[in-house]
Amino acid sequence: MAALWMLVFLSFGISGSQLSNCSYYGLLKHLNLTTSSQVLQIMRPVHSWNQTSKVSLDMVMYGIMDVDEKFQTVTSQVWIETRWKNEFLTWNPPDFCGIDKLTIPKSLVWVPDVSIDEDASDTGSIRSDPLLILMSSGEMVTTTRQRLTSTCQLNLSLFPFDVQRCNITFSSTSYDASSLKLGPAKSSSVITSLSDQFMITQGEWKLQNMDLYQYDHVNGNISVSKLRYTVLLDRKPMLYVINLILPLLYLLILDLASFFIPASSGEKLGFKVTILLSISVLLLILNDILPSTEDKLPMIASYCVSVFTVVWLSLLETMLVGFFTELSGRRSSDLSGRASRRVHFSLFFSMIRA
Ligand SMILES: *[C@@H]1O[C@H](CO)[C@@H](O)[C@H](O)[C@H]1NC(C)=O
Ligand SMILES: *[C@@H]1O[C@H](CO)[C@@H](O)[C@H](O)[C@H]1NC(C)=O
Ligand SMILES: *[C@@H]1O[C@H](CO)[C@@H](O)[C@H](O)[C@H]1NC(C)=O
Ligand SMILES: *[C@@H]1O[C@H](CO)[C@@H](O)[C@H](O)[C@H]1NC(C)=O
Ligand SMILES: *[C@@H]1O[C@H](CO)[C@@H](O)[C@H](O)[C@H]1NC(C)=O
Ligand SMILES: *[C@@H]1O[C@H](CO)[C@@H](O)[C@H](O)[C@H]1NC(C)=O
Repeated sequence: MAALWMLVFLSFGISGSQLSNCSYYGLLKHLNLTTSSQVLQIMRPVHSWNQTSKVSLDMVMYGIMDVDEKFQTVTSQVWIETRWKNEFLTWNPPDFCGIDKLTIPKSLVWVPDVSIDEDASDTGSIRSDPLLILMSSGEMVTTTRQRLTSTCQLNLSLFPFDVQRCNITFSSTSYDASSLKLGPAKSSSVITSLSDQFMITQGEWKLQNMDLYQYDHVNGNISVSKLRYTVLLDRKPMLYVINLILPLLYLLILDLASFFIPASSGEKLGFKVTILLSISVLLLILNDILPSTEDKLPMIASYCVSVFTVVWLSLLETMLVGFFTELSGRRSSDLSGRASRRVHFSLFFSMIRA
């Protein structure tokens, strides 16, 4: 009996000495992380196999670098925070001097394999933090910064007054929906305001809204959990109005005004050809922006083509009018010439008769 009490006292003494040990070492030893364990890296960290790992994921967009209309891609800077729970790595903070979080290398433990479906980035554009934060409840937090190039079907029919809607879909490559479930931690309004707050550069675009939608994508017998962000981007059209739309309009007005140039001065034709050339230069700019894959012509292309056609028609008309004026002028001079010749002849004959 005394021996038993002795044992109890000893074990209390040991736990007491653990209490006084405030280094991370004791905690790591308690979590069995001092020697790298393969099991912790391979195993989805749940007690029962049929339990679902809930992975919550937040994406904040803090830069819109480029929207490529030709390649139909959007390049942005995103910051992704992923959280999940490891049911084996938990501790009671008071047992360890109140340590409530720990930073450990990602390589030591299981991390969910979440990727972006629309990703078309170069490798090396991901700056993933090699460490993750482990909370005493077993929650793990990891953050990734990425220069994300995502494909997006751009609808340019209202260019440059367009609003683009782009999808960024997160899903797990190898786990189905019953073992790994993706979900958001923050609401879409919070995400949008955070993105607005941290935005460092947006160029000619304005981030209007970020919507999120969680669903299971069913393909045959396999269903995969997906989390879709729909990013609403609003173009600032001022540059295109100044560069493209107004000059075209002014050139059209100039062309109409050239009706006041007298046809006899001979400058009319040259003036109209100059206007036509200026319009083709503007068309070249447009050609640089819009993709050739567009099935339906964007409205601005129709506008440019119609302005070009109107100027071309007026040029043609000027040429024709000039031609016919000259023709009729020559005929009338011919007629007058013949008449004067007849007068001459009659004069001549009358002189001979005389
Ligand atoms: C904490 O425990 C470790 C291993 O048990 C030991 O090496 C270290 O000296 C202890 N530190 C303190 C302050 O007791
Ligand atoms: C650490 O490993 C030992 C023996 O391998 C085991 O008894 C203990 O439960 C493990 N601790 C944790 C927190 O998994
Ligand atoms: C997991 O399987 C066990 C045994 O088949 C069952 O009792 C338990 O309810 C299941 N849990 C879930 C979350 O499906
Ligand atoms: C985004 O996803 C929705 C739903 O799948 C789809 O209807 C829409 O066309 C997608 N948008 C783009 C730009 O791909
Ligand atoms: C593109 O946008 C226009 C105007 O918003 C719309 O009428 C058209 O249906 C859209 N086209 C596609 C392919 O979504
Ligand atoms: C889907 O499940 C059914 C019944 O569970 C099975 O007969 C069928 O072969 C499965 N299909 C595929 C593609 O695995």
